[in-house]
Amino acid sequence: MQVFRTVREVREWRASVTGDVGLVPTMGYLHEGHLSLVRAARAGNAHVVTSVFVNPTQFAPNEDLDRYPRDEARDLALLEAERVDVVFAPAVDEMYPEGFQTYVTVDRVTQRLEGASRPTHFRGVTTVVLKLFNIAQPHRAYFGQKDAQQLAVIRRMVRDLDVPVEVIGMPIVREADGLALSSRNIYLSPDERAAALVLSRALRRAEELFAAGERDAGVIRAAVEGMMAAEPLARIDYVSVADAGTLEELETVDRAALVSVAARFGVTRLIDNVTLAPET
Ligand code: PAJ
Repeated sequence: MQVFRTVREVREWRASVTGDVGLVPTMGYLHEGHLSLVRAARAGNAHVVTSVFVNPTQFAPNEDLDRYPRDEARDLALLEAERVDVVFAPAVDEMYPEGFQTYVTVDRVTQRLEGASRPTHFRGVTTVVLKLFNIAQPHRAYFGQKDAQQLAVIRRMVRDLDVPVEVIGMPIVREADGLALSSRNIYLSPDERAAALVLSRALRRAEELFAAGERDAGVIRAAVEGMMAAEPLARIDYVSVADAGTLEELETVDRAALVSVAARFGVTRLIDNVTLAPET
């Protein structure tokens, strides 16, 4: 496994290989969710590149950039065990040198949900992801459904800008009790960790209602919100039942719908989601 710090090294390596390249962009502090993407990339491509870069442009000034968890030695050992070929782990000024001033903005689909509470977040994500695509020039890139809006935004960008990369979405990896894996879970106190289970439970309730034939999005939204509101340690940020592609709120679940939630437990903001797919 080669570890590169510069764009130039990745480019030189890229020019030297034939066969398909799969890219897994991450911010490190890797867990089984990230590794599921790496395994899919390993299975589907001759070469696998994983990037480990805590991208400052997707954090607002009041967010957790400085205390975002990092453990590069551990990340490299995990990636080596997954037989990754190349790790791209640049410093901030390699990605954003003096004079940097170009950003990619995706319009409507970035404006609700995560974008409503984090107005500059997706501009940072799309900018760094397009840079990583241009640097590694992968055939395929792997993203988790955990960040469902991020996946929808990246799909939109790739379509709108004719980016020659196949975007592959992978299912959410959860703990045995249902909590979606997240690098931020380590911030949770034991009480908050227990309370955070309300997210996956409330989403399971949405799935049950849907399976029982409920198609009124308002009823599903209210059931999820009611369960979350009953958890004293949860401060709800949003509960949404939206078109899975455009993320516009639905009145009726008559097409694939993303049920997504965000809430704070103490200082830690968590997100989770499920997709409801009516038969067509
Ligand atoms: P990060 O939060 O490190 O996540 C990297 C990838 O792992 C994302 O595609 C995310 O959806 C996926 N992932 C995280 N938790 C997961 C889980 N429990 N199950 C399945 N997949 C999971 O997302 C980012 O980094 C950044 O925004 C990035 C795309 C790297 C751009 O900076």
